[in-house]
Amino acid sequence: MSLSPAWLDELRARTLLSGLIGKSVKLQRAGREWKACCPFHNEKSPSFTVNDDKGFYHCFGCGAHGDAIRWMTDQRGLPFIDAVKELAQAAGLDVPQQDPRAREKAERASTLHDVMAQAEAWYVEQLGRAEGAHARAYLQKRGISEALARTFRIGFAPDSRTGLRSALKEIGDEKMVECGLLIQPEEGKRDPYDRFRGRLMIPIRDARGRTIAFGGRILGEGEPKYLNSPETVLFDKGRTLFNLDRAAAASRKADRVIVVEGYMDVIALAGAGIDEAVAPLGTALTEGQLERLWRLDPRPILCFDGDGAGQKASVRAIGRALPFLEPGRTLRFLTLPQGQDPDDLIRTGGRAAMEALLETPEPLVDRLWRHEEAALPLDTPEARAGLKQRLAEHSRAIADKDVSHQYFQEFRQRVDEKFAPQRREWPPRGGAGGAGGNGGGFRPRKVQDKRGNWVAAPAPPLPGTHAVNRSGVGPIEARAILAGLVRLPDSIGAHAEPLSHLHFADPAMDRVRSALVEAAWRGEALEGDGISTILLRVGAIDLLQKAGRANGLAFSFQRGDADPERARRDLGEVIDVMLKRSELDAQIAAVNASFRNGSDGHGWEEAMEEQQHLQRERLETERRLSELREQAEL
Ligand code: UTP
Ligand code: MN
Repeated sequence: MSLSPAWLDELRARTLLSGLIGKSVKLQRAGREWKACCPFHNEKSPSFTVNDDKGFYHCFGCGAHGDAIRWMTDQRGLPFIDAVKELAQAAGLDVPQQDPRAREKAERASTLHDVMAQAEAWYVEQLGRAEGAHARAYLQKRGISEALARTFRIGFAPDSRTGLRSALKEIGDEKMVECGLLIQPEEGKRDPYDRFRGRLMIPIRDARGRTIAFGGRILGEGEPKYLNSPETVLFDKGRTLFNLDRAAAASRKADRVIVVEGYMDVIALAGAGIDEAVAPLGTALTEGQLERLWRLDPRPILCFDGDGAGQKASVRAIGRALPFLEPGRTLRFLTLPQGQDPDDLIRTGGRAAMEALLETPEPLVDRLWRHEEAALPLDTPEARAGLKQRLAEHSRAIADKDVSHQYFQEFRQRVDEKFAPQRREWPPRGGAGGAGGNGGGFRPRKVQDKRGNWVAAPAPPLPGTHAVNRSGVGPIEARAILAGLVRLPDSIGAHAEPLSHLHFADPAMDRVRSALVEAAWRGEALEGDGISTILLRVGAIDLLQKAGRANGLAFSFQRGDADPERARRDLGEVIDVMLKRSELDAQIAAVNASFRNGSDGHGWEEAMEEQQHLQRERLETERRLSELREQAEL
């Protein structure tokens, strides 16, 4: 074999086994696995299982067992190299060139695993010796029991430049340098020496449980706190997660996977019975690590310190993850008390303290919203628009169309709610006239009759008079506006704000409106084909055809022959006026409701006047609309 184990692992990781086997065998879901009648022997009830997490198939009947490559050689009968080539092509991987040096390197990788295993055993042995007393005391002080240390195969590197080198001299310097266990001085011809000296040795393993690197912690204070193996043939830092091998199994049972920042956090959690935790190796989560995590659980929980650095790190993780979110696939967040890591938390509060926090992890969307909302003051229109823009950019970063769309909608709703005019109460609390004081200009007007007296209250009008339609803009006007927008797509962006609040009574037309506003919000191109793409998406392509057929009795923006400037201006005004009208409708309805609900009579007169005032304003909007229509006919 001449391909590197790391590359073959990558190939396996990128191949969805059930997808591969499912091409020729009918698979049925069975929990986390798939079942089928075994293709390797004759049977009537299924004993063949496929496990995507573990990446292998197994038959309980005949014992057939293997991974994706094995499937190709055993079931399809391909030679090894052809099997690999076919899988690589499907996975979008290039088969590495087989030059003699690469081959040699690959052959050595398997021996390098051996070297690492021997080094690990030696470090463990040193921990048990007299020289390791100091390290054992340190473990004890940190609350790491002997059993826990054994589980993680923690060891100790004595403070010597030749300890490991002479213990494993049979292996030879070259291989030990290649593993990162020895350092080869660059200048001169001096001898290589032990990299790790006077440190607690924490083995880092790959997904199959083979030791590929070490993290060496200084005992007590000193720099660097952790000395880690350099990247080697075996150790690709960005693709490795500490404790992945143990957490993979545990996560299936616990139905969750937890990501913490440090080795000691993982170890402390395991000590408390939480084995499904992993840690990156001192860096921000990489794409490769996210992929690994999502193979374990669709919603990994990321824990961060509540301090500034931790919170920044959580936002950085979101940035990394956004492009790869998919339906059902996301991240969750847990903010720890300031200055505490899970290790501290476990020490002070035990497992219960951690479990309490794990009960309510924060969804990614909330974490991101919370961050952006608090990032800058929002006291000016520019600042508020800036918030919208940042949220739109985040949503745009999501490659999956559906998820991206959901984020846009969610954020838009939140922004709308946040900046919507304050809900007005009617009648105002706290007595007539004096209430609120900040109601945004909504104040009852005192109207007196000819003799200067308050008029007696007439029976309150019913909602629905004056063709008030609270459920939104009617179909004729809605169609006119949509036609105008299709004809003058640049108006969509220009009026996105009022349009986003304008509700069309007809659900289909309202969907179109909403889609257009959203497209403008995300900065999608609306000119040319842009708009037809959107209409197609919401299944309203016929609108485009209808928009092309102008009828004479309409607003200027519905006619092909109108002056474009004029049409644009009219369209803007019609949108504004209609929005105003529907706002008035809502206010009128609120006032009417307060009449009907029979308040205690307090402020009743003002309410009645307010209602009349609103009706007058509404009539004014009607007048303006018909004016715009008439002008168009001229
Ligand atoms: P922390 O400094 O938070 O470590 O770094 P910790 O796990 O809480 O360590 P203790 O409790 O003081 O022993 C988090 C992770 O960052 C990496 C390590 O992976 C560590 O676990 N790190 C940190 C380094 O690689 N080098 C360092 O010098 C420090
Ligand atoms: Mn710590």
